[in-house]
Amino acid sequence: MTTLAPTGAKSQLGSTTKKSFGKTPDGQPVDLYVLTNKNGSEVSITNYGGTVVSLKVPDRSGKIADVVLGYDNVEGYAEGKSYFGAIVGRYGNRIGHAQFVLDGKTYTLAKNNGENSLHGGVNGFNKAVWTAKTLSSKDGQSLELSYLSKDGEEGFPGNLKVTVIYTLTDDNALRIEYSATTDKKTVVNLTNHSYFNLAGQGSGDILGHLLTIEADKFTPVDSGLIPTGELRDVVDTPFDFRKPTAIGARINQDDQQLKLGGGYDHNLVLRRPAGSGESLAARVVEATTGRVMEVWTTEPGVQFYTGNFLDGKSAGKGGATYPKRSAFCLETQHFPDSPNQPKFPSVVLNPGQRYHTVTTYKFSVEK
Ligand code: BGC
Repeated sequence: MTTLAPTGAKSQLGSTTKKSFGKTPDGQPVDLYVLTNKNGSEVSITNYGGTVVSLKVPDRSGKIADVVLGYDNVEGYAEGKSYFGAIVGRYGNRIGHAQFVLDGKTYTLAKNNGENSLHGGVNGFNKAVWTAKTLSSKDGQSLELSYLSKDGEEGFPGNLKVTVIYTLTDDNALRIEYSATTDKKTVVNLTNHSYFNLAGQGSGDILGHLLTIEADKFTPVDSGLIPTGELRDVVDTPFDFRKPTAIGARINQDDQQLKLGGGYDHNLVLRRPAGSGESLAARVVEATTGRVMEVWTTEPGVQFYTGNFLDGKSAGKGGATYPKRSAFCLETQHFPDSPNQPKFPSVVLNPGQRYHTVTTYKFSVEK
């Protein structure tokens, strides 16, 4: 294990260490970076997929628990199909019929989700080995990850240079800053796919977590989970999380959209105030531990997913199992299928422009 950033008492300054996380199936060595802040909160990130492997934060009595699902080693991530903790790209979420048109040219992607493309294709950014560099940051410990997605990779045009900076701040927030530039017109939609359980990973279902989402509308989907194009009011639907509501309160209601998703697996349209900074997207409270997580973002949407496809079969960290609905995701993003939906906010990136988005997961406790 190597100590990389500020030496000195961990409890006062925070630190970053690096250790081996094994080898990818094609033999590339990858590492695990452990960022600790001055309060003893800790995030572990591997440069395989830019993945958040663990995230340890205190409960109301100061007890630390790991609140994200994951695997103990790189093999788990290489074989896994759930995108635990990963950076998802080049296009997070679905592109209908696995194709889109830019300037009259049709680009064809792999159909890796029924008829559609999901999360960047067969070998998305979650399977890439990123270049890692520790950075000094004024408010915590940072890790910079970069990746060059080559022109034509997974069918997308343009050499895309991507940088993701993770910062664990001294006030228990995990900030993720995504940047990208291209040499040809392309589409980009990056997110992080952490699965949260604020009572601790492997500790049962998340149906009792209280959720608030700052959204008045959502994007209903068809049977392939592709948005129909409608922005539907959440009023009188199970998608109304404008006031704190248990995730499980309405999840089994006889509702066509919930049936299509097998639970919640939908993009909500965030109520974003004017301006370019981050705004509050969602707040989650777990009453037994008092843990609270707020999600702040510059993005217009968030995919709320209740782990409907988890089946408890593969072994997770420390032998934990992850059955259906044992975690939730709040994936900040542009809306699914935006390349084919002219009325949705644009995901096109041109040469000379810089893609730049920020999302922060802030942890605290309620008494
Ligand atoms: C999607 C789900 C999918 C999950 C894991 C989510 O972003 O909306 O449908 O099962 O990712 O791939």
